[in-house]
Amino acid sequence: MRVFVAGATGAIGKRLVLLLVSRGHEVTAMTRTGAKVAGLRAAGAEPVVVDGLDANAVMRAVSAARPEVIVHEMTALSSMGANLRRFDRDFELTNRLRTQGTDTLLAAARRTDTRRVVAQSFAGWPYAREGAWVKSEEDRLDPHPPQGMQRTLSAIGHLEGAVAGAGDIEGLVLRYGTLYGPGTSLARDGEHAEMIRRRRFPIVGQGTGVWSFVHIDDAAAATVAAIQGGAPGLLNIVDDDPAPVCEWLVHLADALGAKPPRRIPLWLGRLATGEVGVSLMMQVRGASNEKAKRELGWRPRHPSWRSGFREGLDDSAQERREPAEAIT
Ligand SMILES: NC(=O)c1ccc[n+]([C@@H]2O[C@H](COP(=O)([O-])OP(=O)(O)OC[C@H]3O[C@@H](n4cnc5c(N)ncnc54)[C@H](OP(=O)(O)O)[C@@H]3O)[C@@H](O)[C@H]2O)c1
Repeated sequence: MRVFVAGATGAIGKRLVLLLVSRGHEVTAMTRTGAKVAGLRAAGAEPVVVDGLDANAVMRAVSAARPEVIVHEMTALSSMGANLRRFDRDFELTNRLRTQGTDTLLAAARRTDTRRVVAQSFAGWPYAREGAWVKSEEDRLDPHPPQGMQRTLSAIGHLEGAVAGAGDIEGLVLRYGTLYGPGTSLARDGEHAEMIRRRRFPIVGQGTGVWSFVHIDDAAAATVAAIQGGAPGLLNIVDDDPAPVCEWLVHLADALGAKPPRRIPLWLGRLATGEVGVSLMMQVRGASNEKAKRELGWRPRHPSWRSGFREGLDDSAQERREPAEAIT
């Protein structure tokens, strides 16, 4: 199959390109960065250097590739800081990639008769902070997100509506859980792992907020499954084990060889991280993967972060590490 991957050098994109090539797909891999072309070619893809916010350039690249499927994995998360008070501001470029970038790819898909578009979204804090602690795709997104997350949630809503509601194109939205593993901020050498090691990632209040995780290779495998099959719509791509912060953060610190996380009272957490931090620590919901399992026939190889944090933070298999790192 001819597959066009926008965001081919990101945390998911890298693993996805390798998987697609290994399964015999013809992959066009988009990056903004000339220096990444050689790595993408070495991985077996045909690179194109295009800015996802340049509609004409995207149109030309997609027209030349004539893909059957377009995958949207573009985000601008690697340059973000850790200040939760700047949440919407830090997500500004990602939000543009989720609005304008999505619309541009959909327009290109329509122009080139692309059959299917698969796009990245997020399972976790976007869900309404009410009712059940584990949400399905039918549950609603947060009607009243904390001040400072509204623009980001609105961009997610735009992407999801445009892709899953496309009608004339098979649109699948993958709501990935919090990613961990090589190339992510929760790799052994990732920036959030470093914060946990330095005890700068405290549990606020009781740490009751529920998070869903997914290993980066499981996310890539689910994406391949969504490229090859499954009905249009929304899918939570998460592991089997949604869990509260007070549980997973202690376990993760231990897996990293760090001291247990500090615990700080709610009032201090609010002072330090604002409503966004309090929400992420106390109120957010996890997600169920029942639908993805059913529709895609996908099963995570790391069904729980409990074993995943111990076994999956590094690239242990040398043969996998080398090609993955070729895409830099
Ligand atoms: N669900 C989650 O928890 C989640 C999801 C995604 C990412 N993350 C985290 O975010 C961190 C960084 O993610 P990342 O490594 O994927 O990096 P990233 O900086 O978010 O970039 C992702 C991809 O988007 C592309 N991109 C960005 N702006 C673009 C533009 N204007 N035009 C075309 N392409 C553009 C990048 O391409 P080029 O740079 O090659 O141009 C790259 O391939 C990781 O630590 C990861 O864990 C978390």
